[in-house]
Amino acid sequence: MKLLKAKAISHAFDYPLFNGVDIELDSGESIAIIGISGSGKSTLLHILSTLLTPKEGEVELLGEKLSQQKKNALVQMRRNDLGLIFQSHYLIKGFSAYENLEVASMLSNEPIENKLLVSLGIDKVIRQKVTELSGGQQQRVSIARVLTKKPRVIFADEPTGNLDLETASEVMELLSGYIKEHDAGMVLVTHDNDLAMRCDKVYRIQDEQLVQIK
Ligand SMILES: Nc1ncnc2c1ncn2[C@@H]1O[C@H](COP(=O)(O)OP(=O)(O)OP(=O)(O)O)[C@@H](O)[C@H]1O
Ligand SMILES: [Mg+2]
Repeated sequence: MKLLKAKAISHAFDYPLFNGVDIELDSGESIAIIGISGSGKSTLLHILSTLLTPKEGEVELLGEKLSQQKKNALVQMRRNDLGLIFQSHYLIKGFSAYENLEVASMLSNEPIENKLLVSLGIDKVIRQKVTELSGGQQQRVSIARVLTKKPRVIFADEPTGNLDLETASEVMELLSGYIKEHDAGMVLVTHDNDLAMRCDKVYRIQDEQLVQIK
């Protein structure tokens, strides 16, 4: 099943970042987007994930054309079907890590799986306040929160940016496993070429184009 279809996307704030971008994501598939800092990776991810409207072109997500959706429908889609993992984690700071997961669990009516916490290596610190956790631990809590929702499409912006190589590799393994197991899809932005190459398809933003390199 096609999860995502973007056609002829262009975006310019004061200047063009990219022109005529086409991208398609099938269920069970992962896509990586690489490119130098400032090339527009996060901007493209925001466009694909309902958070920004492109200047031209159309994004179709889970069979719905985003330009035709009401704001409320987009909120529902984000809440129920999308897993957004961003450069800043947006965890609720006054809460413990576990309480953050409980919010996701209540909103989506899905249980918190202990095996997920163990495989992310956060089971021992889950009762601590978010502010007491290291940057990498917070990053893994935010990934646990997203996966607890059982999303159909994951959008991840540098999800392993704060992690050492070994932990990053394990987190990547977990995300890929989730995609295959749940027939979900993932669009991943990363600076790390090795991690990118573990995705099914890899694109680089260069000279305002999206060039497929795998
Ligand atoms: N809301 C905005 N208004 C104007 N310009 C913006 C806005 N958001 C981003 N930009 C500009 O668009 C360009 C691309 O930004 P973007 O965050 O997409 O880059 P990136 O490829 O994700 O970089 P990095 O690897 O550093 O995260 C930057 O030059 C940035 O200043
Ligand atoms: Mg970015």
